[in-house]
Formats: sequence, structure tokens, C-alpha cells
Amino acid sequence: MRLEEIYRPIEKELKGVEQILRRSLTDARSKSVLKISNYLLDSPGKRLRPALVILSAKASQQSPTVDERSMISVAGAMELIHIASLIHDDVIDHTNLRHNRPTINSKWGQDVSIALGDYLYSLGFGLISSCKNKDILSCIASATKVMCEGELIQVCERDNLSLLKERYLIIVKKKTAALFAASCQAGAIVSKAKEPYRDALRQYGLNFGIAFQIIDDCLDLIGKKKNLGKSPGADFRMGELTLPVLNLLSQKKDKNRIIYLLKHPDRQEAFRELRQRFINSSALLKTKEDIYTYIQKAKKSIMNRIDNSCFKESLFHLADYIATRLK
Ligand code: IPE
Ligand code: IPE
Ligand code: MG
Ligand code: MG
Repeated sequence: MRLEEIYRPIEKELKGVEQILRRSLTDARSKSVLKISNYLLDSPGKRLRPALVILSAKASQQSPTVDERSMISVAGAMELIHIASLIHDDVIDHTNLRHNRPTINSKWGQDVSIALGDYLYSLGFGLISSCKNKDILSCIASATKVMCEGELIQVCERDNLSLLKERYLIIVKKKTAALFAASCQAGAIVSKAKEPYRDALRQYGLNFGIAFQIIDDCLDLIGKKKNLGKSPGADFRMGELTLPVLNLLSQKKDKNRIIYLLKHPDRQEAFRELRQRFINSSALLKTKEDIYTYIQKAKKSIMNRIDNSCFKESLFHLADYIATRLK
């Protein structure tokens, strides 16, 4: 199913999110800031986090009245926080392409990227404060803290060739899954859903996020620049060991050769060989099984715990959608 079809039940609300993003980003008076803000607005991402806020709010709605204004503000805030994290991530990862265009750091430099990322975080938290809801604030503030901590741990673990799968999963949960989990939980809080609903949606978001990051890591190894909109091989170049590579290493076969390749992150031919070895090995299938496990866990988290609705259907389809990116 295409993303557009999955988003259909919340089309109107997502338009509201675009409006709030445009309003927040074009609020600045300075022409130079406006130019960069418009650059961001001109190449939107998939808007997964706002969609999850809205789908979760609608799927767990207990009374006919969801506070739509707060829901849209929270959805917009999650996207602003996400965009801020990507701008900083592109500095950290030394990357020059996103959404098929130069990254902020390659177009305007690191100084602008750092200041712009900070600016977007403050816009995001400004929107959250307008909801005047302490539970939402603490849910999103703690997820943002965990996300930043995850990015930091990943940087500290660079070039650690004995990284364990457990440690990798901790990084993934923190840097990526925490924000997805908070998007779903915050949606449930906005709709005043009871604790079991909040917990079910949070678990869905967490498992969805783990699967999502493993897929992203897999695509960084085997994907094509044209389809990804970003240059593959960033993890390899930065010495970041991801699950596909850990699965390849745990096969024991040609382990020394793989370690040799990982020790030459600046050689394009080393990356090409690693990619080919991964594609030809059973580690690819193992990684797909790992991904499938988390997608199933995500679906199971809400299966019998949330009432049936078109919104719950979209949550199921969204979990399947992310896996189709690997095909
Ligand atoms: C990219 O997230 C960063 C990861 C967590 C892997 P998305 O793929 O959701 O980013 P955009 O906003 O759609 O580009
Ligand atoms: C995602 O990590 C960044 C955050 C979660 C903040 P990656 O570095 O793997 O994402 P991409 O591949 O650059 O989008
Ligand atoms: Mg990156
Ligand atoms: Mg990164």
C-alpha cells in the first residue's frame, strides 16, 4: 500500500500539520532564516511521526471530542524535533545528501546547521507548551533526551568492532524508537485514552521504531542513492556497526576479511565488497527476519488491545509499509 493511501483517513489533519509547520518555520523575520526554512519546507520527509500522533489519537479516542488543536500542535512539534535531529545528525555523520538534495551542512555549513537545529528544537517545545499538558510535555521531553543520548552513545561506540547486538539494540531504541514511541503515546494522551491504550500504542511505536532503524541500516548497506535520497555507506564510513554487519560477523565465515574491510572505512572498494558479501550471505535473510520480528511485535502490541477502526488499520498498514522499502 502507498503512504498516501495509508494516510487517507487523516488527510485533513495532516494538512493542518503542514500549516502549523509552515507557520512555525516562517515566523522568523530575518530573510536569511526564511530562506533556509523554505528550503526545509520544499523537501518534506515522510511525516511518519505526525501521522503516528494523529493515528494513535484517533485510534484510542474514547469520547467524540479529541482536542484537535493540541493534537495538531503535538504532531507538528514531533516533526520539528525530528527535523532538528536530522540536521544535527547530518553534521555528526558528515553527510551531504538528504531528500535527494544537499544537506543543510553541505549547503550552509556546520555553524548554520547547529544553530538551525537548536532553533527547531525550541520551536517544537514552544508548540508543546501551548498545549498546557504536563503529561504530554514530560512524555516528549524525556523521549528527546533519550534520543540525544542514543546519538551520543552511537558516536562514542564508533570503531568498536566488538560491539554487541544488545548494545546496538540499546542505541536503536534510544536514538530512533523512543521518538516513535513518544509520538504514539502523546497521541493517546491527547485523546485522554486510559493507561492500557497509552501503553499499547507506546509499545507499537517502540517496536515500529526498532524495525524502522534496522531497515534504515540495511538500506545504508544495500540501498541505492537514487531511491534513498541519501548516499549509502554513511554508517560504514563513520565506523558505525549496524545489525546487518553484526549479523554478517556472527556467521564466522571470512570474519577476518570482514574485519579488515571495516578497518578501511575510507576505501570505496572496501564498502562495495562488504555490501556484496552481505548480499551473498544468509546475514541478509537473518536481518530481514529480525526486522519482521519487530514488525510483528508492533502489530501484536495493538492487535487485541485497541478497538478496531480505520485508524488502527492504518497503523497495521504503516508497519507493513516500512518493510516494503527493502524490496
Ligand atoms: C530518518 O527518518 C532517520 C531515521 C530515524 C532513520 P525518516 O526516514 O522518518 O526521515 P524523513 O523525515 O522521512 O526524511
Ligand atoms: C538517525 O540515525 C538519526 C536520529 C535518530 C537522530 P541515522 O544516522 O542512521 O539516520 P540517517 O540514515 O542519517 O537518516
Ligand atoms: Mg545519519
Ligand atoms: Mg547517525
